[in-house]
Amino acid sequence: MKILVINGPNLNMLGVREPAFYGTRDYAALTAFILESAREAGVEAECFQSNYEGDLVTKIQQAYGVFDAIVINPAAYTHTSIAILDALKAVSLPAVEVHLSDVSAREPFRQISYAGMACEKTFMGLGFEGYRQAILYLAARYGEASR
Ligand code: DQA
Repeated sequence: MKILVINGPNLNMLGVREPAFYGTRDYAALTAFILESAREAGVEAECFQSNYEGDLVTKIQQAYGVFDAIVINPAAYTHTSIAILDALKAVSLPAVEVHLSDVSAREPFRQISYAGMACEKTFMGLGFEGYRQAILYLAARYGEASR
């Protein structure tokens, strides 16, 4: 099983960016954590990060026929991007939404998630662990071992 893990804008600034919300580990540590989580779960993972909405849309489109599932933290585009929602619906791959912080306890403008409308599940407020939970969920539900 191949899982595409997508991270949106400013997540390349992890470690520097608002550590009270996002922790002190950097993006390289996150990708290492994701790849290790995938290995443990017996699946393949590829990580992709972009600060550009169109690049995120294109990457989701390119996942069609290549990946079996998507884990996505669209970051700020979570709350604004109908284009990312439409791309997820277009490829119709099983998708899980992740947020490092507990967005439900933050500002009102973070209370809507467009991408989440195309996702089966959301893990939030768990830091890096949310990505591991998302991978484990997808591996259990759609991985080779589930067949
Ligand atoms: C975030 C939460 C978003 O509201 C914010 O814009 C981010 C990161 C998170 O992982 O907690 O950039 O998606």
